[in-house]
Amino acid sequence: MSRVAYVGGQYLPHRQAAVHIEDRGYQFGDGVYEVIAVVRGVLVDEDRHLARLHRSLTELRINLPMGDGALKIVMREVIRRNGVDTGIVYLQVTRGVAPRDHAFPKAAKPVLVVTSRRSRPADPRLGRDGIAVITIRDIRWQRCDIKSVALVANVLGKQQAREAGAYEAWQIDREGQVTEGTSTNAWIVTSDNTVVTRAADHAILNGVTRAAIFDIMHREGYRLVERSFTVEEAKAAREAFLTSTTADLLPVVRIDGDPVADGQPGPLSRKLREAYLVHAAAAA
Ligand code: PDD
Repeated sequence: MSRVAYVGGQYLPHRQAAVHIEDRGYQFGDGVYEVIAVVRGVLVDEDRHLARLHRSLTELRINLPMGDGALKIVMREVIRRNGVDTGIVYLQVTRGVAPRDHAFPKAAKPVLVVTSRRSRPADPRLGRDGIAVITIRDIRWQRCDIKSVALVANVLGKQQAREAGAYEAWQIDREGQVTEGTSTNAWIVTSDNTVVTRAADHAILNGVTRAAIFDIMHREGYRLVERSFTVEEAKAAREAFLTSTTADLLPVVRIDGDPVADGQPGPLSRKLREAYLVHAAAAA
């Protein structure tokens, strides 16, 4: 089945799907995006993703070119036309096309792009054996709560991780605290089995997977604290893990080459991963 994308109001063959060279997303990174998991044709935590999309758009003062009802129909149509059973939907809204000028254009119409592809399930070894992270300085801007397409610092960080043979790079702020990964949220489990993750301030993206894990923990009575932690605390933690729409929940077993505890995925990470996978599958 050939791929189809929704671009600026039309469903087009993937090869012909293009935006203008003066699209502000292309020139300025002036836009936002969402990545939503599709499990057996159903969008996982769709309403939370749409709520976050609206928040990002409001912060950047960009209007969504259609209502939520229409957007849901477009996403389903893109999924259908691409024959995606299990995978992701990517949606992006930029401020539109206008002659290059930093200030907002008066007349530009926001451009919506929706694509979908099969990309799951992820390599099961990652969940079973855990993954390695490195730590890097957080060189991003101060509004990482906005899911902006301006991701070059994240790109550099992820590439550094890849070149170091790691899955992810955990970013460290000026105070020496972990903010998050380049495309994932960061978590540890302390010696008294408290799960710790940074509060959703302006330094991190408020992950939809993070919110789903919170729900699971509340339901199952886990101890959870939202606070910052240092790399040293993470290295000395009982367990560590990361979460995102595409990674689900992956145990972190090495940080900068040092094992976390015995270097094996911890029991709490395993349980939460299982519970999260049940949650994602239950969407379908
Ligand atoms: N990334 N932090 C950052 C910087 C992210 O880019 C993401 C998601 C997350 C996790 O958010 P969620 O649980 O809502 O997926 C945290 C997506 C998957 C991406 O850029 O591909």
